[in-house]
Amino acid sequence: MRAMRGKTVVVTGASAGIGEALAVVLAGRGANLVLAARNEEALQRVKARCEAAGGRAVVVPTDVGDAEACHHLVDRAVEAFGGIDVLVNNAGVTMDARVDEVKDLGLFERLMRINYLGSVYCTAHALPHLKARRGLVVAVSSLTGKTGVPNRSGYAASKHAMHGFFDSLRIELRGTGVDVTVVCPGFVATGIRDSALGADGQPVRQSKHNERAGDNMDVDTCVAIILKAMDQREREVVMTTKARVAQFLKLVAPGLVDRIAAKTIQDRQR
Ligand SMILES: NC(=O)c1ccc[n+]([C@@H]2O[C@H](COP(=O)([O-])OP(=O)(O)OC[C@H]3O[C@@H](n4cnc5c(N)ncnc54)[C@H](OP(=O)(O)O)[C@@H]3O)[C@@H](O)[C@H]2O)c1
Repeated sequence: MRAMRGKTVVVTGASAGIGEALAVVLAGRGANLVLAARNEEALQRVKARCEAAGGRAVVVPTDVGDAEACHHLVDRAVEAFGGIDVLVNNAGVTMDARVDEVKDLGLFERLMRINYLGSVYCTAHALPHLKARRGLVVAVSSLTGKTGVPNRSGYAASKHAMHGFFDSLRIELRGTGVDVTVVCPGFVATGIRDSALGADGQPVRQSKHNERAGDNMDVDTCVAIILKAMDQREREVVMTTKARVAQFLKLVAPGLVDRIAAKTIQDRQR
């Protein structure tokens, strides 16, 4: 593991799930954490966990869909710890509705604003600081960033957009010492379904999709894969074997991959 002691890591979506678990492990390795999300109370709880693990942490309540808030997040990180070594764009929301069910088209805008534009805003503001420290940008995408999935069209679109942005940025950053790592988890056992947006643009709360199903990857395994990717400054990590095979299959039999995606979602409806 590349030394994390004294490094400053900004994690968006740090109030729960993958972001929270990643922050706590990094704190245990001596990193300074800048914890961003909307729920300040939850962030304070994560801060306490980070400090108990041996790291320093500051909380910056942030809605990543707001460009100014992302600017403020970066400023606060620099003010607190003097610079930024790693930015983890992890904040995200999902959806659970077919396109023909959606009544509020603002749903699609919201998904793009949080998942895609939130990553763009944070990255653009952090870039000068990352260049100064030859740092790392991490983008937490999804397997749905690689292929379409029913009931999640807007989510898949936002994750595909992340790939376009970060793959382009990686090329622009050649020679600067800044690397770009895109990670694509499959199903991970977090509470993401609790905030999934439904046909009316509001959280469905009781999504038909069971993210906590037994065969989901556990959060710690997902975090271990992300840490390894960060350590090795990998270009992209597709987290499951099935998805890695599907990537190649898609080149020769895309219809088959569509059917696999449909069945995977169907099997997960309760
Ligand atoms: N779980 C999975 O199966 C899975 C699979 C593939 C990819 N992913 C990706 O992994 C990332 C983390 O998801 P998770 O599973 O850990 O979900 P989660 O437990 O629901 O956590 C999502 C995090 O994003 C934050 N967030 C949501 N909207 C935000 C906003 N507007 N501004 C700032 N923060 C916001 C939430 O905090 P607040 O509500 O406090 O703002 C929370 O901290 C997401 O990008 C997701 O797309 C997850």
